[in-house]
Amino acid sequence: MLKNKKILIGITGGIAAYKVCSLIRELKKLNADVKTILTPNAKNFVTETTLMTLSQNPVYSDEFSSQNWRPEHISLSEADLFIIAPASANTTGKIANGICDNLLTSTAAAFSNPIIIAPAMNCNMWNNPLIQKNIETLKSQNNITVIPPSSGYLACGYDGDGRMAEPEDIKNTAISILTEDKFLNGKKIIITAGGTKEQIDPVRYIGNHSSGKMGMAIADAACRHGAEVTLIATYETKKPYKTIVATSTQDMLSEVKQAFINADALIMAAAPADFRAEQINEQKIKKENTDGLTLKLIKNPDILQEISNIKKNNQLVIGFCAESENLVENAKKKINSKNLDFIVANDISSKEIGFNSDFNEVKIIDKSNNIKFLQKDTKINIAEKILEEIFKNA
Ligand code: PMT
Repeated sequence: MLKNKKILIGITGGIAAYKVCSLIRELKKLNADVKTILTPNAKNFVTETTLMTLSQNPVYSDEFSSQNWRPEHISLSEADLFIIAPASANTTGKIANGICDNLLTSTAAAFSNPIIIAPAMNCNMWNNPLIQKNIETLKSQNNITVIPPSSGYLACGYDGDGRMAEPEDIKNTAISILTEDKFLNGKKIIITAGGTKEQIDPVRYIGNHSSGKMGMAIADAACRHGAEVTLIATYETKKPYKTIVATSTQDMLSEVKQAFINADALIMAAAPADFRAEQINEQKIKKENTDGLTLKLIKNPDILQEISNIKKNNQLVIGFCAESENLVENAKKKINSKNLDFIVANDISSKEIGFNSDFNEVKIIDKSNNIKFLQKDTKINIAEKILEEIFKNA
């Protein structure tokens, strides 16, 4: 499957380095040409002999030992795919900030083909806002896919987020990137993401828990598969495709309506607020001289319902729904009431999936009530499968 594909694997200093041995074996079984780079710290966890034997290639770790006239990091950067696993906090931080102080980080800076980064670290390190900022920077790059770590028992003795993704998941992501099928070429797709914010006064707003991760994963995947993507999100983001910021439900409605005129499909993964304050106070509401505050909320327009009035037969509309009970029953009602071609139903009763998680588990339901279950997976992989199900298999 991966014949003639050149895969470079960068290994950093972390105990999960031992798992990369099985990844190399699996990629070799698929006939990929695998080369490995070790950071100086990685040598504490895995030996060059092991990697050389498994990859059937020399192992690279020194920027200046080459007998070739070309710098080593430039020659290595010509591979088809660079997998960095495990990616330590140190190395992810350096790559995110353009630091090139060893062979791995220099190669990453020169690499223009796809890069997969599979971080692994202690849970407190993973949740450190500085490290998360670096991860967000990496994710915003066109050619970088970050496979988030999972939660569980960590080698450092803690329990939490930080376990490197399984080699099988890394292999599958590598296969889907290397055998990318541009099945969305020529399609104009609008995707919405995030929870809207309905202002109360200059300081406060009514919001919800949607982070926009699901919508953004779909937008990234659609772009990779050749679609002309317009992301309408409730927050700023740096992406290689067109993005429009729409903060409130009313703003989102007007942006979606405008973009929909020339679109082939709309995917509403955003969580627009159903209500807004009847009045937005111009000044900050003061707590002095009052025991409480009564806000009158009025109904917001339903974006999907408005779109159903202008939808043409050749345009696809896909809704999402977040339900805490009677998932399928409620989803089916929404397909009909909002005139959808598909609905993607999330069970938000579990904290491990849905709102703000890197993972999701969904049911895709079509107009004839056929149900396709996508079991728990990263939002990156769920996004791939949703697009395949809707645009390839339907
Ligand atoms: O953003 P994440 O943290 O990654 O989480 C993802 C998610 C759980 C938010 C996402 O997968 C999801 O389920 N989004 C839809 C949330 C929602 O608004 O559900 P709903 O059942 O209230 O609405 C059903 C559909 O109508 C949705 O497609 C929604 O975008 C749309 N809608 C809702 C309200 C409104 N005023 N206008 C709309 O068009």
